[in-house]
Amino acid sequence: MTETATQLTFTLNGESIAPQHSPNTTLLQYLLQTGRTGTKQGCGDGDCGACTVAIVSKDANGQPSYQAVNSCLIPLGAVAGRSIVTVEGIAGESLHPVQAAMIETGGSQCGYCTPGFIMSLFAAYYDGVVDDASVEGNLCRCTGYLSIRKAAAQVTQAQPNDEFVRQLQSIDCTPQPLHYQGVHEFYRPTSLADAIALLQQHPDATLIAGATDLGLEMSHDRRTFSKLISLEAVPELLQIDRTADRVEIGAALPLSHIESQLHGEFPALDAMLHLFAARQIRNRATLGGNIGTASPIGDLPPVLLALDAELQIAGQSGERSLPIAEFFRGYRQTALQPGEIIVSVKIPRSQSARRLSRSYKVGKRGTDDISTVAAAFTIDLDANDRIVHARLAYGGVAATPIRAIAIEEQLIDRPWTPETIQQIKPLLRETFAPLTDLRGSASYRKLLVANLFEKFFIEATS
Ligand SMILES: Cc1cc2nc3c(=O)[nH]c(=O)nc-3n(C[C@H](O)[C@H](O)[C@H](O)COP(=O)(O)OP(=O)(O)OC[C@H]3O[C@@H](n4cnc5c(N)ncnc54)[C@H](O)[C@@H]3O)c2cc1C
Ligand code: FES
Ligand code: FES
Repeated sequence: MTETATQLTFTLNGESIAPQHSPNTTLLQYLLQTGRTGTKQGCGDGDCGACTVAIVSKDANGQPSYQAVNSCLIPLGAVAGRSIVTVEGIAGESLHPVQAAMIETGGSQCGYCTPGFIMSLFAAYYDGVVDDASVEGNLCRCTGYLSIRKAAAQVTQAQPNDEFVRQLQSIDCTPQPLHYQGVHEFYRPTSLADAIALLQQHPDATLIAGATDLGLEMSHDRRTFSKLISLEAVPELLQIDRTADRVEIGAALPLSHIESQLHGEFPALDAMLHLFAARQIRNRATLGGNIGTASPIGDLPPVLLALDAELQIAGQSGERSLPIAEFFRGYRQTALQPGEIIVSVKIPRSQSARRLSRSYKVGKRGTDDISTVAAAFTIDLDANDRIVHARLAYGGVAATPIRAIAIEEQLIDRPWTPETIQQIKPLLRETFAPLTDLRGSASYRKLLVANLFEKFFIEATS
């Protein structure tokens, strides 16, 4: 059995580091406070990518890989035992190929964003695919992107004798158990039983997974967490289990793993994951975090509502299953009892021969943005094109992610025709009473509720 570490140590550009900081300190704060100023702070919100570093982690196939992550959102506790590469660590006697490509194509002007682009390209270089998507989470104010895209196109694949490839092969990146007590406490249990026991011993502790929501608060020193219990190393929360009638997804699996491992199985999930934030966020964000945070504009709950997902929840008194439709109880309120953890999400496979299922997200930007309205729809048809099962689920139109249950009931037994859609649209427009905010007016949101369903009809039937 692996002993629980009590020191917060990690490897930074090959050097072993043992900071005495609070585990609430973000990795970026630590880098800047210790004079490692190559990594930049832009937004501190996970939006601009200036702070990107590479962390050695496991990819979806369980192999060690470099993953681009936003250092402004990662608490130091979460990097314990890990290996981190920053922009200061990638040039040897000569520039790293991604640095050379950026210089050759003129991919840098003021240079503020450049370390972040370099590190995203660096991680992609060892992943085997360098393309525009590799830098989707990096913003630049000066270059107009053309030269950066040229740099990405110019970079070829890593050679086996590359020192970073050798490093990847030699590092064990499995997170080990940790109880670090600095100014604040950070626990990283390595079994579900230990996580539940810790939560019982420390009812005031906060669960943390990828920290893409909680890290925002730490990044801006808005909130300090006296005790954090990390779910990153709990194996029961990191699996994907497939059976003939369902897929069960571990609550602490990074979304990028779900994206690649389940691609093609649930088209509505694929489409929403593609539009979810950017690469650096998806390398850390989890399904459990997206559900647990209970935001009315979380993008995955509408998809899970439309697919009739069930949550597996564990606590002191054992495990229970709960349909996700019964999970959200009010604005940021859930059915989780104190001491409970979301373990996994079960998505039933369709038994229908004729299932139509898609998802949509409308935001101010096409990608790397949060939703104004998100929607996911599932319709099952019989042999005569009559609707036998309907799920219409939305985000951004109420205090919680929500289904249009009255409309679903009205759709049953109706023909799947343009006439049905036109009859339903005015009713759908009046189903919810959304708010007006910076992202959109109430009337715009109402229109979207109806028009996205029509769009679904057109796309799914053409
Ligand atoms: C730049 C940026 C872009 C984003 N874009 C999107 C987007 O496009 N769409 C979207 O929906 N969201 C987006 N988010 C929000 C965030 O990434 C997601 O909500 C994400 O899924 C949270 O997962 P996490 O693992 O990082 O959660 P954490 O921050 O670790 O935790 C979030 C909350 O969930 C709780 N929690 C975590 N895991 C569990 C569990 N297993 N059981 C019980 N409670 C748990 C935690 O206690 C905490 O309250 C974005 C965030 C940022 C910073
Ligand atoms: S500083 Fe902007 S993403 Fe971290
Ligand atoms: S080169 Fe100036 S922000 Fe990108």
